Amino acid sequence: MFVVSLCLYFGVWVSSARGLEFRYHNSIEVEQYLKTVNRNHPEFTHLHSIGKSVEGRDLWVLILGKHPREHKTGIPEFKYVGNMHGNEVIGRVLLLQLIDHLTKGYLTDPLVTRLLNSTRVHILPSMNPDGFEAADRNCLYSQGRFNKNGVDLNRNFPDAFSSSEEQEPEKEVQAVMNWLNSEAFVLSANLHGGAVVASYPYDNSNGGGELQGGASISPDNDVFIHLAKNYSFTHNSMHKSDSCYDSLSFTDGITNGYHWYRLPGGMQDYNYVWHQCLEITLELSCCKYPPERELPGLWQDNKAALLAYMQQVHLGVKGQVMDSNGNPLPNAVVEVEGRHNLCPFRTDRNGEYYRLLLPGKYTIKVVFPGHKTHIESISVPYGPDKFSALTHNIYLQRSDSNTVNSVTQPAPLCTSQVLNSKENSGRALLPAHLTVILALAIHRLLW
Ligand SMILES: *[C@@H]1O[C@H](CO)[C@@H](O)[C@H](O)[C@H]1NC(C)=O
Ligand SMILES: *[C@@H]1O[C@H](CO)[C@@H](O)[C@H](O)[C@H]1NC(C)=O
Ligand SMILES: [Zn+2]
Repeated sequence: MFVVSLCLYFGVWVSSARGLEFRYHNSIEVEQYLKTVNRNHPEFTHLHSIGKSVEGRDLWVLILGKHPREHKTGIPEFKYVGNMHGNEVIGRVLLLQLIDHLTKGYLTDPLVTRLLNSTRVHILPSMNPDGFEAADRNCLYSQGRFNKNGVDLNRNFPDAFSSSEEQEPEKEVQAVMNWLNSEAFVLSANLHGGAVVASYPYDNSNGGGELQGGASISPDNDVFIHLAKNYSFTHNSMHKSDSCYDSLSFTDGITNGYHWYRLPGGMQDYNYVWHQCLEITLELSCCKYPPERELPGLWQDNKAALLAYMQQVHLGVKGQVMDSNGNPLPNAVVEVEGRHNLCPFRTDRNGEYYRLLLPGKYTIKVVFPGHKTHIESISVPYGPDKFSALTHNIYLQRSDSNTVNSVTQPAPLCTSQVLNSKENSGRALLPAHLTVILALAIHRLLW
C-alpha cells in the first residue's frame, strides 16, 4: 500500500531511487511536484502562493522547517528566490533539487535536520514563470528574461538611490513586496545565471558617501563579504573565478554589485534597505539555459554551498526587546554602533530583532519611545556552528519624561511612518518609498 501510493505520488518525478529527475520541469509540473511534496510531508512543509504572474500563474513558495506554518520566537526566517529572469533557469532547477534534498534528509541527515529544526526556510523556485515558459534554450540571448509585460523584474523595485520617477511595480514584484511585509526575513539569496559570481549590495549609488573606490559600500559590508565568500568558497569552483565568455574575473568569486555594474531598482538593495533582510545575488552558470546533461554537475557544484549559506542565517545576535513587565516591544530601533543603516533595524511584530554580525565586540543601542535608551556592549560569538545566533533579550525601563529620547537621540530615520501607522500594527516599518528618499536626503546631511 505504502509502495503503491509512493509510486502514485512520485512516479512522474522519480526516474529511480535517486530522486527528482535532472531536467527542466514546466510550471504545471513544478506546481504538481510542490503539491506532492507538501502532501507527503505536511509535518515539516507548508505550500502557499504569494500571488500570481501577469499570465495568472501562481508564485508558489514552499516553506520547510520544524514549524512550517508560523513564525516561532528565535527561529530566523530564510529565503531563496529563483528564476526571476525567466531565461536564467539554473536557480529554478537547483531550488527544486534542494527541496528534494531537504525533504529526503529531514530526520535522517544530521545537517538537514539541524538546519530545519533551527530555521524556517522559504523557497520560491520561480519568480517569473511566464518568462520561463517564453524562454528559448539559448546560453546568451534573453528571450524570456522579462515578464509578460516586457519588464525586467530586477529593475522594477523601489530604489532608495534613484531620484527618477519610480515605475509601478509589476505583479510579480508586488507579490514579493507583500511577501516581505508578511515575514521578517533575515537572510536571502536570489539565484541567476549568465556568470559565476556572488554579488552583494549595494547595486546602486547616487554618488553619496557610500561610493568608495568604484564600489557602493553598505554599512554591513563586512558581513556581506563574509556571506558572499561563504558561498563562493563552498561552491566547487566559484572562488577560482574562472571567467565565462567575457574577460571579467572576480577575485575570490565575489563582487560588489555596483562595482560590477550599476543596477537601479534591484531586488537585493530593496530587501536590505527597506526590510533589513540581507540578500545577495548568486550567478550560478555561464550558460543561462544549460543543456540538461549538465544539471547533475551543476547541482553537485552548488549543493554544499546552498546548505552552508542557509546556515549563515545564524550569524550574530538575536533576541526580544521588552518592557520591564516582559511585554515585547515592536518597532524598537536596534542600532549597532558604527552602522548607519539607511533605514534602521527594528524589532518585528513579536518584538524580535536579528542582527547578522561577524564574531567580535559590538555596542548596541536600543531606542523606544517613552523608554530609556539602552546602550550595551556585547561579545558576539560565531553562531552557525551551533545553529543559533547569540540570544540576547533586552529589557527597557520607562523614562520619567517623554523628552529624554529626543534629547539623547536624533529622530531615527523611517520612524514617522512607523509611529503614524499603528493600524499596520506590526512588522517593522514599511515606509512609502518616497518618504524614504526624503529621509535619505536628510540622512546625507546628518552623517
Ligand atoms: C529535530 O526536531 C525533531 C522534531 O521535534 C526531533 O525529533 C529531533 O530530535 C530534532 N533533531 C535535532 C538534531 O535537533
Ligand atoms: C561556510 O559556512 C558554513 C556554515 O554555515 C561553515 O561550516 C563553513 O566553514 C563556511 N565556509 C567558508 C569557506 O566560509
Ligand atoms: Zn539575471
